Amino acid sequence: MTIQVFLPKFRIDECLHEVRECLEKSWTGMGFKTQHFEEKWCEYTGLPYSHFINSNTVGLHLAFHLFKNQYHWQAGDEVITTPLTFISTNHAILYENLKPVFADVDGTGCLDPKSIEARITEKTRAVIYVGLGGNTGHLEEVSKICKKNNLKLILDAAHMSGTRYKNKHVGHEADVSVFSFQAVKNLPTADSGMICFREKAFDDQVRKLTWLGINKDTYSRTTQQGSYKWKYDVEMVGYKYHGNSIMAALGLVGLRYLDQDNQFRRALAREYRKLLSTIPAIQFIQEVNDCESAQHLFQIRVKNRDELLNHLQKNHIFPGVHYRDNTEYKLYEYGFNTCPQAQRISQEIISLPLHLHLTEEDVTHICNVIREFLK
Ligand SMILES: Cc1ncc(COP(=O)(O)O)c(C=O)c1O
Repeated sequence: MTIQVFLPKFRIDECLHEVRECLEKSWTGMGFKTQHFEEKWCEYTGLPYSHFINSNTVGLHLAFHLFKNQYHWQAGDEVITTPLTFISTNHAILYENLKPVFADVDGTGCLDPKSIEARITEKTRAVIYVGLGGNTGHLEEVSKICKKNNLKLILDAAHMSGTRYKNKHVGHEADVSVFSFQAVKNLPTADSGMICFREKAFDDQVRKLTWLGINKDTYSRTTQQGSYKWKYDVEMVGYKYHGNSIMAALGLVGLRYLDQDNQFRRALAREYRKLLSTIPAIQFIQEVNDCESAQHLFQIRVKNRDELLNHLQKNHIFPGVHYRDNTEYKLYEYGFNTCPQAQRISQEIISLPLHLHLTEEDVTHICNVIREFLK
């Protein structure tokens, strides 16, 4: 038997029931289900606006697109970002011809507020912050720095569905938050996401932008009686980035179980910590007071990471690495050697298997295999 780092769980009958409704109504695109999911997401997070999109990546792109136009940012203006992330975070900056400026992370694996402050220049316009593995890190402090320096804060909340800080769902501290409901995330669909602006004007605009710039979507042009009004206007160049009802159907089911599922993840993480805390060679990713992490990942650090990965694989355990320091990639090599802590973590980090099919016995087994190697 193999143990994978991720293995999504779907409540299949409930999912099929929700999907069936779409098929019976002959409406699988953007429409009643996507609207319902948006409402439920606002209710769950307490965020004022939510728009359902086809991935987190496109949401990050739109965030930069809208802010750049609204605030008249110029090509080459700077966005402070982390090297310890999935490349979507940094590609999104480049989509709008802005410049990713890498700041270092701290022991939480998230951006270090001090390093952000040190990177601010005349040309800095925004900070994009990643809650690595579901951790908030020092997000509250970063939010204060952004306010003080008049910078926009974009939260890449791909790992943060269900993360709470001081008992409040994350997202309120940012100008925009973008969640991912990609196949292996805490709220898995197949591919989709949610973009949540603080201000209504941006929410109104993003709805047009995700539907090619058309000012009325097909659903709102179809009346209760089914008569279809064909005429619309096009106000801007937009994209085909909106979500669809099949993904929303899966998301609605996942949302019902999100808190319960995250609790299970946190219980497994506690078990890992308990069993691994007696091994001196292991360092944990630092937790933050008042953060109830969605626990998308459970990460440890070890010096001989690649050897440990081989050993685990020989034992049919397949962990992940989140992430390779992005400045090691050709595209971002101009930032190489500027973030020593991120570079170090990137060489030491392992994401141990963490999903809803995992049992406490599996965790014990994985920890035994690790201990055998590190003893
Ligand atoms: C930190 C981070 N940002 C962005 C993304 C992109 O999300 P999506 O696949 O929904 O576009 C991911 C997905 O893995 C991620 O982990």
